[in-house]
Amino acid sequence: MEQVDRDQIINELEKEAYSIFDLAESFNSKFNEFLKRYTTSILKDFGLETLSLEQLHLSLKQEQLNTFRLKLIKSISETNELTDLIYAELTHLLHSLVGPDIAVQKIPGLSIQFPGDESSILPFHSDVHAGNSPYEFVFWLPLTRAEGTNAMFLLPLQESLKLERRGWDESKALSDIKSEYKDDLIRTGSGPGQAMIFSHNLFHGNTVNEEGFTRVSLNIRFKSLLTPFGEKKLGSYFRVLNVSPITRIGVMFES
Ligand SMILES: [Fe+2]
Repeated sequence: MEQVDRDQIINELEKEAYSIFDLAESFNSKFNEFLKRYTTSILKDFGLETLSLEQLHLSLKQEQLNTFRLKLIKSISETNELTDLIYAELTHLLHSLVGPDIAVQKIPGLSIQFPGDESSILPFHSDVHAGNSPYEFVFWLPLTRAEGTNAMFLLPLQESLKLERRGWDESKALSDIKSEYKDDLIRTGSGPGQAMIFSHNLFHGNTVNEEGFTRVSLNIRFKSLLTPFGEKKLGSYFRVLNVSPITRIGVMFES
């Protein structure tokens, strides 16, 4: 039984192209168990005891951070456990958003922002300018609090559309464009037990984490199998998550 407020999420997405919502307790307990299993073994590899991810910067050296991040994401991606968990809990929501023929990002993104770390800044951008198609959404899952300066920022839908439509002045750096829109940017605060869904057509990014704790988040893209793919293709970047019976029959007859 799906317990998220599907109508509200869809309404918010229609209006704003993003929605932050509470996940069901049933999802949270399974996800926490999953996370603990994976992080404990990786932490052990680095000689660390189980600790709160928000305190990771106190135990892990800055130069170990990327290796830690890559090991954790490799380990999480070795099975389909994470996407199966999301799909099982949010089947109806996903079907409402993109239909039953679904492709999912094969390897989720994992972002870790230590306090004061300038090297992990995600500059102002839209993923569509980096090879993703416009027909995708990001399921963004915070593993720690994502608040204040360590929360992601989004440029609202109407402003993102305006910026996209006015075309690109190559001579203008994205940082200049960002400062032009700085009063419009929305900080998307959330925390464990919540998720955000957003269209990566919205311009977004982050700034230096000035909070006193590490921010960790996962991001996974979903799309309809039947909408165009960008440079991020099915097979390399995406895999098939679900196929409807009629599409399955159609494919049999077309080939
Ligand atoms: Fe992005």
